[in-house]
Amino acid sequence: MKISVFGMGYVGSVTAACLAEQRHEVVGVDVNPTKVSLINAGQTPVIEPGLGELMREAVREGRLRATSSATDGVSSTDISLICVGTPTLRSGRLDLSGIEKVSVELGRALKEKSGFHTIAVRSTILPGTSDGLVIPNLEAGSGKKAGRDFAVCYNPEFIREGTAVADFYSPPFTIIGAHDLQQGQPIAELYAAIDKPLVHTEMRLAEMLKYICNAYHALKIVFANEIGTIAKSVGVDSQALMQLFCTDEKLNISRAYLQPGFAFGGSCLPKDVRSLAYLGRELDLKLPLLESLLPSNEIHIRRGIDLVLQTGKKKVGVLGLSFKPDTDDLRESPTIELVKALIGEGCQVKIFDEKVKLSSIIGANREFVEKEIPHIGALLHASLEDVVKDSEVIVVGRDAREFPGLREMLRADHTVIELARSKNFEAGAWKHSGICW
Ligand SMILES: NC(=O)c1ccc[n+]([C@@H]2O[C@H](COP(=O)([O-])OP(=O)(O)OC[C@H]3O[C@@H](n4cnc5c(N)ncnc54)[C@H](O)[C@@H]3O)[C@@H](O)[C@H]2O)c1
Repeated sequence: MKISVFGMGYVGSVTAACLAEQRHEVVGVDVNPTKVSLINAGQTPVIEPGLGELMREAVREGRLRATSSATDGVSSTDISLICVGTPTLRSGRLDLSGIEKVSVELGRALKEKSGFHTIAVRSTILPGTSDGLVIPNLEAGSGKKAGRDFAVCYNPEFIREGTAVADFYSPPFTIIGAHDLQQGQPIAELYAAIDKPLVHTEMRLAEMLKYICNAYHALKIVFANEIGTIAKSVGVDSQALMQLFCTDEKLNISRAYLQPGFAFGGSCLPKDVRSLAYLGRELDLKLPLLESLLPSNEIHIRRGIDLVLQTGKKKVGVLGLSFKPDTDDLRESPTIELVKALIGEGCQVKIFDEKVKLSSIIGANREFVEKEIPHIGALLHASLEDVVKDSEVIVVGRDAREFPGLREMLRADHTVIELARSKNFEAGAWKHSGICW
């Protein structure tokens, strides 16, 4: 294939050299004349293990050259990959000036071209940037229509500096975001030789995925460092601790707990997070990540409360009171916090929970209900149908499959608020909203 790579920095240089190694014909485009001269002399503009040899070989064999002309890049290739920098401004706001400029230049160059062209953005850009900036600039400059006269997709890069060449050939996955499968197809073909999962998805989802991957990596590093800081202070070998932590692939290094839903609760997570953060304070340590967990969780409970209050309706049915299915443990259930707040706002709340029947719960849990939330115990009803029938807003606290027959009971005048994403519980005639989806 004939490919132009716009922006010959870390990402662009590695991408260009690796594609040239796979016998593609590659043109590197950069506004920096020094980089253009270096590449044409067979030298790499960035230091990266293995890249020097790849680039020297590719230029020597005539599979890679560089230019500062966008028109040259577009007219001599069928695919353009945008790899320009997307730094942040001092405020933290994403600086899109590079993307703005390159998309304007590409638009102008497309105007001159008669053949079909595919453009893939590889730079890291916030969701909506392709639709809000890149495509409008390409269409305005070319006078052509994206999806019809040329294709656009988003194809994030997952290489890491220092291992970039190896990462290019072995990414975690290849993601192609586009408005239709066809537009992403030429880019998919570029990666035919890479034996890793390739996923076609929506444009905005692909744009956001790159950010959440990096945010999660940062979260993991900060978590490990804060844990290491406490461990050191209490004489625990933090390396051995985290090594052991990582051997749990059921709950720790796994998909567990990574599905957007309602706040955490129960008799363990809140109290243990609280104790660990308190220990940190006692040790005079600053641990902002650990300290932020409970406040963030409380804000999420507030989101649920606000969703109900925003309906302006007062009769609320809450389905599922304990913090997760198949338990009657009500201690620190976030749904109880939600119910308390709704009562405080003058809502008339009715609750159904198959597992929580005042007559049958015993021990610490009964004591908790009688002492801490006697007024909530009185709101529990034995019949799902009665709760749904008498309510205007239905808060589904857990997977809707736990409430057989619920769909059939819902009316067009109901508003359903989901706190847990339910499978096969698509919206019906009723109004429907999820807490974070
Ligand atoms: N560096 C990484 O490890 C890495 C990994 C994954 C994703 N990314 C993302 O990839 C993008 C590029 O990162 P980078 O580190 O390679 O950036 P970089 O700053 O090293 O390189 C950007 C290049 O783009 C060139 N450029 C700017 N405007 C141009 C234009 N209009 N036309 C042609 N060239 C132009 C610059 O001269 C420079 O050479 C960023 O969005 C970054 O977030 C980077």
